[in-house]
Amino acid sequence: MAVIVVTGRGGAGKTTTTANLSSHLAMKEYRVLAIDGDLYLPNLGFHFGLDAVKYSVHTLMKNPDIDPEWAIYKHRETGVYVMPGSTQLQDVLGISPRKLVDVIDKVRYKFGVVFIDSPTGVPFDTLPTFQLANYQIIVVEIERSPIYSFEVMVKNEIEKLKALGERYNLNIGVVLNKVRESEDVVDEIINAIETDLDVPVLGWVPFDSNVPASVNAGVPIVKYMPNSDAAIAFKEIGDVLEEWIFGE
Ligand SMILES: Nc1ncnc2c1ncn2[C@@H]1O[C@H](COP(=O)(O)OP(=O)(O)O)[C@@H](O)[C@H]1O
Ligand SMILES: [Mg+2]
Repeated sequence: MAVIVVTGRGGAGKTTTTANLSSHLAMKEYRVLAIDGDLYLPNLGFHFGLDAVKYSVHTLMKNPDIDPEWAIYKHRETGVYVMPGSTQLQDVLGISPRKLVDVIDKVRYKFGVVFIDSPTGVPFDTLPTFQLANYQIIVVEIERSPIYSFEVMVKNEIEKLKALGERYNLNIGVVLNKVRESEDVVDEIINAIETDLDVPVLGWVPFDSNVPASVNAGVPIVKYMPNSDAAIAFKEIGDVLEEWIFGE
């Protein structure tokens, strides 16, 4: 079972969502692998305190003979198995992004759920990974789109990514992140997305300054500060996702 996490714009919270939904399911005893598929600007490792690893997804893409287990690290606090990317320029240069699908294909059968963090926008480079995915989560940062421009901005963004997921027959869901001033209109926004675009919203996460703190600590917020507003929201979304994937 593979879940691809995408966003229209950078900084919306794709990696944060990947890290927290993986952690939530791992803490519920699922065997969860989180892979950094953002090959040019990987930062999933930081969310799990894995800064400078010897073996990464890049190593596996360059050396198909290496045992993929070498690039999988179990995060002590949450139990998530993490395959980070390399932040070294020389590792990133000269890779063939289309090979990512081969790496995922080799390891996915060992896990109950595999999360794939993606680059921003339509991940043209790694599109073959969509072939082995089942779910697509679109993370949208609402705050940058005030309600009056909502129609144009957010709908356009979701529509494109939704069309992409549909092309690969994925089940698609939306997560709204960093909700701040628009909190009082969030229900309206969710309603518009669900009725006009016909795509379910799994939930929304408030802007919470504890989130950057959890990244600095290398422990996703659902574990780092489980009673914070963002953690509570991610856990609820994780439960919706669990029901969606494993409920009948
Ligand atoms: N709900 C939130 N509240 C506050 N800050 C957040 C929240 N979600 C993410 N962030 C912060 O926003 C920044 C971008 O998030 P990230 O997950 O890296 O985005 P992306 O992967 O989509 O580029 C990070 O510094 C992260 O700590
Ligand atoms: Mg990211």
